[in-house]
Amino acid sequence: MQFLLNNRIEINEMIKGIELESRIESSQDGTRLLKEHYKHVSSYMINVADWNLSIHPKVFCPVYSHSSLFLMENIKIKKGTNVLDMGTGCGIQAMNVLGKGADCVIAVDVNPMAVKCARENLAKYFEDKRKYKVFESDLFENLPMACSFNIIIFNLPFHNRPAKNLLELSIHDKNYRTMKKFFLSLINYLKKNGQAYVPFSTLGELDVFYETLERNNLNYEMIAHKYEANYRWDIYIIYK
Ligand SMILES: C[S@@+](CC[C@H](N)C(=O)[O-])C[C@H]1O[C@@H](n2cnc3c(N)ncnc32)[C@H](O)[C@@H]1O
Repeated sequence: MQFLLNNRIEINEMIKGIELESRIESSQDGTRLLKEHYKHVSSYMINVADWNLSIHPKVFCPVYSHSSLFLMENIKIKKGTNVLDMGTGCGIQAMNVLGKGADCVIAVDVNPMAVKCARENLAKYFEDKRKYKVFESDLFENLPMACSFNIIIFNLPFHNRPAKNLLELSIHDKNYRTMKKFFLSLINYLKKNGQAYVPFSTLGELDVFYETLERNNLNYEMIAHKYEANYRWDIYIIYK
């Protein structure tokens, strides 16, 4: 897969998209990744998997991270599957599962600019509006009562640092408040045999991640991992 960034990246770097990806998100505190985002002052375009996506400067950019595209590659979707894309950002995970044949997707984000961005990107490539809904929600807060999913995806923030604004909420999660709250409620929203897909990394505190899963009696399995920029990047499936 080749990742092309326009606007700020020079032509020769555009061609070496994979190398570009490896240069970012390799600082322990996430500051390099944020710095890259702060370079953008207006919306810009990226190209992923043949989609031209518009990214608002205050919304997480998937090509700057190691986890977004790795997660996309590792998600398997069966026919008839309904999906919750938690923390949808620009909508890329929702688009990926719709492209892989998901029946319908609910995509939510706490950042209203991400909601707008995801709506625009989804509308550009998926004509059937009955297949997806995008709205603002702090985790499960605004989800309709009693809804449950075959698959829940959350490419969650994993740096234990305070977030100064909505963009930083994509990367920073002080004391893992968001992660802990998510795993506390997850089971209520998974169908029988449902699974959550969650990436994590040795850049975050893996011991807290495992402890939180265990405290909530959740089973987990690492289904993929890779080593990049001196860190390990994992994809987990999590289930009842
Ligand atoms: C690492 S980004 C992932 C974006 C996109 N899903 C992707 O894979 O590229 C994390 C996303 O989670 C969102 N987020 C953080 N805290 C949240 C919360 N409490 N409720 C909903 N979304 C949240 C952020 O706004 C951000 O869009």
